[in-house]
Amino acid sequence: RDIILIGAPMDSGKRRKGCLMGPDAYRTAGLTEALTGLGYRVRDWGNLAPAEHAPDDPEARIYKHHETVGWTNRLWRTGQDAMAKGLPIFLGGDHALSLGSVGGVNAYSTEKNQPQFLLWLDAHTDYHTPETTDSGNLHGTPVGYVTGRKGFAGFPKIERPIPEENVCILGLRSVDAAEREAMQDTNIHAYDMRRIDETGIAKPLAAFLNKVKKANGALHVSLDVDFLDPAFAPAVGTTVPGGATIREAHLVMEMICDSGLMSSLDLVELNPFLDERGRTAQVMVDLAASALGRRVFDRPTRAFS
Ligand code: ARG
Ligand code: MN
Ligand code: MN
Ligand code: MN
Repeated sequence: RDIILIGAPMDSGKRRKGCLMGPDAYRTAGLTEALTGLGYRVRDWGNLAPAEHAPDDPEARIYKHHETVGWTNRLWRTGQDAMAKGLPIFLGGDHALSLGSVGGVNAYSTEKNQPQFLLWLDAHTDYHTPETTDSGNLHGTPVGYVTGRKGFAGFPKIERPIPEENVCILGLRSVDAAEREAMQDTNIHAYDMRRIDETGIAKPLAAFLNKVKKANGALHVSLDVDFLDPAFAPAVGTTVPGGATIREAHLVMEMICDSGLMSSLDLVELNPFLDERGRTAQVMVDLAASALGRRVFDRPTRAFS
């Protein structure tokens, strides 16, 4: 299967600038070469621009609402198109990217009558709506949007929202009060770091992947840089201590690869302006490679077989 790289140099989901440099940082860190080396044919569709949109009012409560609608429309259509041709990797850009990437891939699976699943790897739930957000930053809303919460005026209508029980979030450690209140009443599989410390990260992930497999579902994986501990991944505006280690993150990616279920991927929230000699970009590229088949050994060594 071909891999399609879709660059979304967007910064409209929050006020701190820099994520727009993300797509080129991934390319500079060798994403194409890593995937080509794993045997894929990689098609780089370059960097997108937002679809035409109304001008934003700088005083508005929601930051760059219209520009984000423009990005959502563009990414939605491009994502739908890419699904028919291969496995899209959306290169962010901040997490508002997923309003469009998940919107588009879910529209595609809706058309194919395939259930859509979503694995959200993040310190945050991103479960706000434009009505509940205090920050006014739309990167905190995509999970709310794609599961069909109300309040997304101006955004494309989601014909078949992703059912709550088809969503798994791993890595949580920063959840706003309004999000907590709303999420506790849902069937979303939301695991905070405490539960991961208690059970290990493999157990909840294996249970979720099993669900996807049984349903013959499509699986979108959305990887926010802040899923990782800032000690390993400093290049993100919303660092929260106590995140996943490199080892936990690679294990997650390797299990996703073994499952053979991933149909689309976001790499989001990388802010190269905050990086240290490209090391966060490199970690994200290495994680993408693990999700797509990179291994230390490709079969058990003789001593273990
Ligand atoms: N909950 C906070 C907010 O809504 C933080 C969201 C962080 N989201 C992210 N994609 N990094 O502003
Ligand atoms: Mn408006
Ligand atoms: Mn996020
Ligand atoms: Mn986050």
